[in-house]
Amino acid sequence: MAITGIYSITYATDDLAAGIRFHEQLGLTLVRSSADAADFELPDGSAVLLRTPEHAELPLPYGQDVSGVREVCWAVDNERSLAQLADGLSRDRTVHRYGQTECTFFDDAGLSVRLRVASFRPLPAEPDPTNAPGRVERLNQLRRWFDRARPLQMQHVVFSSPQPRAAARFYVERLGFRISDIQEEGGVFLRAPGNVQHHNLYWQRGDAKAFRHVSYGVTNLDALMAGAAFMSRQGVKSRQGLGRHRISSTFFYYMPNPCGGDAEYSTDSDCINDDWKPRVWGRVFGHIWWLAQGREQEPEERMRLATEEDLKLT
Ligand SMILES: [Fe+2]
Repeated sequence: MAITGIYSITYATDDLAAGIRFHEQLGLTLVRSSADAADFELPDGSAVLLRTPEHAELPLPYGQDVSGVREVCWAVDNERSLAQLADGLSRDRTVHRYGQTECTFFDDAGLSVRLRVASFRPLPAEPDPTNAPGRVERLNQLRRWFDRARPLQMQHVVFSSPQPRAAARFYVERLGFRISDIQEEGGVFLRAPGNVQHHNLYWQRGDAKAFRHVSYGVTNLDALMAGAAFMSRQGVKSRQGLGRHRISSTFFYYMPNPCGGDAEYSTDSDCINDDWKPRVWGRVFGHIWWLAQGREQEPEERMRLATEEDLKLT
């Protein structure tokens, strides 16, 4: 099983106060702060770490932008798995080890990666009955009300690279990630082997190396829209508004993050395991199923099962 999900992300930000304000508004809990650092925790035990650019702990930036996510830390199920991964990586790169439970290195794209033996706290699995014509699941019972969103876990992170397939291949071949789906014209969705979210990492084609966004999983669409309305009242506006991807089925709502890239509220993503058969999707067709604000043109339908050749990521 080995890698089980995103345990923490570390941002460099030159406006720590704005970063703290944004993440508190987003619904994260501030657990520690100082003049050059702030740590937020999510209910599953994962963390979002903000650091000023000169902070001693920060690794080199991924790409030219000094702000944005500098490091992704993945949870590993036990010390034996960590040792196996670190030994394998040591063959062709420097791996810094911190006791038996932590190590850092750079991936093939140049992003700093940390592995840490850690487990996630279980999340509440409350029933969420939904009525529809012909189907009554909630009788004599109100919906649960949300005043704003409270992210429960980080579901995925997204980075761009001019060579997204090569960037993704490293995670498949060296860290055991699974290919969930592929986008035509570049773009590979990857799942950590011990996780069932459709993807935990997406390498997107881009002219430059950059951090793009992090997805925060919230309970349901009500929580997402209550959060969107709350953020809007704080002056944080989404460029696209609410939409749903075809790839992964995720409801999405992206907001610009003062620490770099976007923060995304996500809900109702597909969950998959090793029985899933990866698809190759038309870029635009797969990206958006619908947007609340509508689109002028519908893209041509393009989706097929991936071939062995596709899965080589060459
Ligand atoms: Fe996303």
